[in-house]
Amino acid sequence: MHRSEAQGSSKGAIFSLGKRLRKLKRFLTAEIWVTDGDTRRRRYQSYPEYLAHQKSKLSQIRNLDRKRRILMDALRKRLSAVTWIKSGMSVLCLGARQGGECEVFIEMGTFAVGIDLNPGVENRHVMAGDFHQLQFADASIDCVFTNCLEHAFEVSTVIDEVRRVLKPGGLFIAEIVLGSRDERGRDPGEHDSVWWDHSESVIDKIKQGGFNEIQRQEFGKPWAGIQVVCSSPITMKASSARDLIAVDGFAPLGA
Ligand SMILES: C[S@@+](CC[C@H](N)C(=O)[O-])C[C@H]1O[C@@H](n2cnc3c(N)ncnc32)[C@H](O)[C@@H]1O
Repeated sequence: MHRSEAQGSSKGAIFSLGKRLRKLKRFLTAEIWVTDGDTRRRRYQSYPEYLAHQKSKLSQIRNLDRKRRILMDALRKRLSAVTWIKSGMSVLCLGARQGGECEVFIEMGTFAVGIDLNPGVENRHVMAGDFHQLQFADASIDCVFTNCLEHAFEVSTVIDEVRRVLKPGGLFIAEIVLGSRDERGRDPGEHDSVWWDHSESVIDKIKQGGFNEIQRQEFGKPWAGIQVVCSSPITMKASSARDLIAVDGFAPLGA
């Protein structure tokens, strides 16, 4: 056998071993997940159990500062490609932990704050809050950003809340981790509460929630995912939508 053939067959063996190990892992962890089509939800006895599980993550993370910097470097690049983000906009970041994403939005000239179940102590950018029940008024925010939908108890409730707080034609920027059956995807981690085979199924849920997709880009850092930029539905009269364009300087898509 030639050397290149031998290398090829050992690569093939490693690939198929990896595939079998992933299948075994899925089988062994099956009892903690409830499957519904493309999506799996972690089995929690109660909502308080879900909240406690999610809040417990912060104390288990090492190198928080390094993680924040890696996130910020990656986000700076891809958010600069989202031309709908304008200075002076209000931005709410969901599941923002230390607030690295808020800092990037602030660098872009926006007014940005975050919410998190566990923002830690003395967090300048992030306040306590649950993204299933936001503490903000209807139609009061220009842009919502999240990279945490896999930490939801119920993804569709989060999407409904985003639609409620966004101004008509507002921006929803969701960064969705690639799922178990996506190319370059992965299986869920210890603190993921919902998981999918394909990230496209989450994008479908966002669209079913009334959002229009206006841009997408794939990314690889800090993890492999898809960023989708969507506009929220316009439920106001056309004349008010025109006022919004004049005042805020961005065109709500679908207007
Ligand atoms: C993977 S971390 C991401 C943190 C940050 N966005 C980042 O990229 O570094 C997920 C975050 O979501 C938060 N979280 C989980 N469930 C939440 C909920 N229901 N409401 C608000 N935050 C939540 C967790 O506390 C955690 O900080």
